[in-house]
Amino acid sequence: MSEMPKGDADMSLKQGSGTGKVHFGGLDDVSLYGTPVEPAPPAPDAKQGFLRNQLQALFQPTDNKLAMKLFGSKKALMKERIRQKAAGHWVIHPCSSFRFYWDLCMLLLLVANLIILPVAISFFNDDLSTRWIAFNCLSDTIFLIDIVVNFRTGIMQQDNAEQVILDPKLIAKHYLRTWFFLDLISSIPLDYIFLIFNQDFSENFQILHAGRALRILRLAKLLSLVRLLRLSRLVRYVSQWEEVYFLNMASVFMRIFNLICMMLLIGHWSGCLQFLVPMLQGFPPNSWVAINELQEAFWLEQYSWALFKAMSHMLCIGYGRFPPQSLTDMWLTMLSMISGATCYALFLGHATNLIQSLDSSRRQYREKVKQVEEYMAYRKLPREMRQRITEYFEHRYQGKFFDEEVILGELSEKLREDVINYNCRSLVASVPFFANADSNFVSDVVTKLRYEVFQPGDIIIKEGTIGNKMYFIQEGIVDIVMANGEVATSLSDGSYFGEICLLTNARRVASVRAETYCNLFSLSVDHFNAVLDQYPLMRRTMESVAAERLNKIGKNPNLVAHREDDTTSEGNTINAVVNALAAEAEHVSLSDDSVARLSERSLGLALQPLQAASCRMAGVALPGLGVAAALPRPKSEHDFSSTQAQPPSLSSVGAAFHKSDAGIAP
Ligand code: CMP
Repeated sequence: MSEMPKGDADMSLKQGSGTGKVHFGGLDDVSLYGTPVEPAPPAPDAKQGFLRNQLQALFQPTDNKLAMKLFGSKKALMKERIRQKAAGHWVIHPCSSFRFYWDLCMLLLLVANLIILPVAISFFNDDLSTRWIAFNCLSDTIFLIDIVVNFRTGIMQQDNAEQVILDPKLIAKHYLRTWFFLDLISSIPLDYIFLIFNQDFSENFQILHAGRALRILRLAKLLSLVRLLRLSRLVRYVSQWEEVYFLNMASVFMRIFNLICMMLLIGHWSGCLQFLVPMLQGFPPNSWVAINELQEAFWLEQYSWALFKAMSHMLCIGYGRFPPQSLTDMWLTMLSMISGATCYALFLGHATNLIQSLDSSRRQYREKVKQVEEYMAYRKLPREMRQRITEYFEHRYQGKFFDEEVILGELSEKLREDVINYNCRSLVASVPFFANADSNFVSDVVTKLRYEVFQPGDIIIKEGTIGNKMYFIQEGIVDIVMANGEVATSLSDGSYFGEICLLTNARRVASVRAETYCNLFSLSVDHFNAVLDQYPLMRRTMESVAAERLNKIGKNPNLVAHREDDTTSEGNTINAVVNALAAEAEHVSLSDDSVARLSERSLGLALQPLQAASCRMAGVALPGLGVAAALPRPKSEHDFSSTQAQPPSLSSVGAAFHKSDAGIAP
């Protein structure tokens, strides 16, 4: 979790005589590049100085998780080290290795204390045994040292976490104002101090006042309970660690684990209290201990029954073995019921909240669906429409709801682009138009795509309307329907449609109907134009495909601009590549659609070196233009186009940019 400080942080600190000014080895503390200068190594002769430096290094912030969270970079950390040096010799930085290990030790000691103390106080009568006194003295001393350490530990401010308070006076002021008194009361051995003051008195009147001595002992016992106030320190340390070391998913489990531990600790304390009260009363015959005949039992048996009783109250299950008989028992039961049940309720609330936050997207989805259901009922929508809406939700969100736009909007531009590119990888792979295009073009397009889902029978595009977007098919089949209702062709995964309208600025030339559930990505007209203006070759490719499509459905292909510069060197290069491949493609058997698709892929691969060469020549990326020209005609387009005369100029450029064009029969 934490690393020891790297190297010694000595920097031959010189105090300017009387001024209190600090000089770092006579050098600037910041290098030319703004990086603080690493302190010089210690002088070899000064052994004492070496030890002091080692100790100081232990008090300095190291590049552990807490420091990195606070300062963000090693450079800032180095600056902080220099600042701490200036603050004084014996101020411990909260991000130092020393504080880390000290907190760890305190944590273990606190847990041990908070478990052992109540058991020892309630079930053991050896308050003055050496073992017990030694344990108490040792732990009290360590807790007192902890107070001293706290007085010398820098303070992280809530509102300004980067500015750690390192001035000893300010630290002391802050500590005195906050936790000091609670820490002090829980650390000083009040019971022993009390006993020492009463010692002479009880010794002199031992026989006469035996009852009083017993009472004094019992009071001392009660005073020793003050040590349990150390719980506040435990809560403080645990929450600080939780914040730093368990911030991610693990934090949820960590919090649930903490809650369970807290519950068990409260149950444990309550159990001990159940026994302590009758014990201090001297076990009256109607107390639960006497009724259960546990006065002389082994402590473990006593503890087990006490814990059972406490847990029964806590979980509101019962009263233990017998209901309370005495007034004290009854009050004790009431107290433990109120405190236990409250804690249990809090635990349940917290745990439910935490568990719910584990799967927030699923919960959000359920909430959304619930709301939609209520809306449908409120609007009295017909049953069939409700069914479609429900199915749409199921298909669109698949049980999880994310506000993707908000999530992506919160990322950096580079990260957003990377995530979108990754999300669209299957689309890019399946759309030959992308698969063979320049990666910059692909990236420019995919970052502007919007995911949309259509259901079977939905009219995605209506003929004659003005279009404002085109679509890429990730998954699904759409029919191109002409005015007379005839299906011209079908397109599926990897194809695109709706581009003609954007290219021509005219109306939609055909209708497009979803045959199955369709997962599409749409590109708005503004984005379409912005991207294609940057990549004119891609525009021409699209125009060629569009012209052929128009031709097939019997419309004028001249609606889209022609490639006037086919004779330019760029066009020649493309055609050369296309022709070279066409010759090669003649060997490919075109009998079967799957084979055709396979050849499309393999040709695409084989083409890559050629494409690269042509790209270099043309100065732009060459899409799968050549491959498309050499590819088999899609069955649907074959059938349909067999009735149409095809202009030779268009047949040389590829219409088969669509995987589906080669695979879906109408
Ligand atoms: P657009 O005119 O914007 O809207 C209807 C779309 O149907 C059209 O763009 C083309 O993308 C598509 N389309 C029209 N004819 C064909 C065809 N023969 N083959 C494939 N797609 C076509």
